Amino acid sequence: MSTSSAPHALARRFLAKGPLTGRIRVPGDKSISHRSIMLGALAVGETRVTGLLEGEDVLSTAAAMRAMGATIERQGNGDWLVSGVGVGGLLQPAGALDMGNSGTSTRLLMGLVASHPITTCFVGDASLSKRPMGRVITPLSQVGAAFTTYPGGRLPLLETGTDTPVPISYRLPVASAQVKSAVLLAGLNTPGVTTVIEPVPTRDHSERMLRGFGAALTVDIDEDGARIIRLVGQPELKAQDIVVPGDPSSAAFFVVAALLVPGSDLVVENVGLNPTRAALFDVLRLMGGQIEEIDRREVGGEPVADLHVRASTLHGIEVDPAVVPSMVDEFPVLFVAAALAEGRTVTSGLEELRVKESDRISAMRAALHLAGARVEETADGLIIEGTGGKLLNGTGNAAVATHLDHRIAMSMAVAGLASQTGVTVDDTRPIATSFPVFEHLLSEVGAV
Ligand code: S3P
Repeated sequence: MSTSSAPHALARRFLAKGPLTGRIRVPGDKSISHRSIMLGALAVGETRVTGLLEGEDVLSTAAAMRAMGATIERQGNGDWLVSGVGVGGLLQPAGALDMGNSGTSTRLLMGLVASHPITTCFVGDASLSKRPMGRVITPLSQVGAAFTTYPGGRLPLLETGTDTPVPISYRLPVASAQVKSAVLLAGLNTPGVTTVIEPVPTRDHSERMLRGFGAALTVDIDEDGARIIRLVGQPELKAQDIVVPGDPSSAAFFVVAALLVPGSDLVVENVGLNPTRAALFDVLRLMGGQIEEIDRREVGGEPVADLHVRASTLHGIEVDPAVVPSMVDEFPVLFVAAALAEGRTVTSGLEELRVKESDRISAMRAALHLAGARVEETADGLIIEGTGGKLLNGTGNAAVATHLDHRIAMSMAVAGLASQTGVTVDDTRPIATSFPVFEHLLSEVGAV
């Protein structure tokens, strides 16, 4: 039995009480929520954000922006108002910025402060303190920022921004929207044109939102298919009204659960379907999942639709590694779908999963194995022999180790719904980083 090393872990067993039925809305998109707070905090005037994700990660971003001078308040109706300091107006924070579990907050804010003459200390939890920051330190050092880190380029780290930032041209060595965004955000307070060359497209929320706030940003495709993103520095950003669509990465858990739990028939409303995010739903359809899009429309400059999901017989597939960046956070829950499918599912090209909130390849291999699935780990993925629709055994008296990783916890909760004896998750607390109402919604749809 594996147990959590965390002193106040909150273990829970997940077992389906019945099929998932009805209509739900998942909270706002995490990536868009972070960016709306950051750009609102740099704009002139008052930005209103409707549908902000009130998860711990986004609240870490809000606390940091407040510590650097922005005014950020929640209204009685649930909207958030952000009064910005203007590009270049960030102030020296009085203390360390606590990033909690959030890699997105850390890497994007490291970008923002790189071109401000202030010194910031970033600290985080045990999971975040293991994650590599060298990938943003390399380009931000070229901009002119200086760093002192814990050995291995990890948190805690001290960053001293520069008052003479250099506009760089940076080719991303790894497909990462966080690195791309860090460079672009550093470019905001840098005179001249900052360029990011992105050989493999990643989520483009930063580009969309920078434009929405009035920055001059262009995207061209070169002869090799790479995206060339150019941002003209030192714009005046104008406050916006932002409506945040539902997070496809959160919807993913309910979509997979509804596919797997017999008799389920569920509508998940208002799901963001930005093509750089939504590949999971295409892959599940290729596996035989019945997922119907209803009323495709635009919300806040992003495509959204309601997803109607019915319990389905899935079959294993070989997942094209080209789709990895557009479903990078969804592999843990895809592994669960594969564990119940008929035949073999092969995934590859998932090296980046090893440096998320946990090593998601090895964490999911161990967790699914404990729940009774047949799983083999490779250097860059998992190979899973599905049960052909038969429920997993469950974990018996043991608990799966989630390693402070919200997506492992929620994926294994879904596995529990598709098991005979239930799956015990060693610690559900990390779920609050991205999806605080996850367990509440599970009970609302009748699953638990
Ligand atoms: C994110 C980018 C992705 C993703 C993370 C959010 C973002 O990380 O895994 O959950 O908002 O930019 P990488 O850029 O490291 O792939």
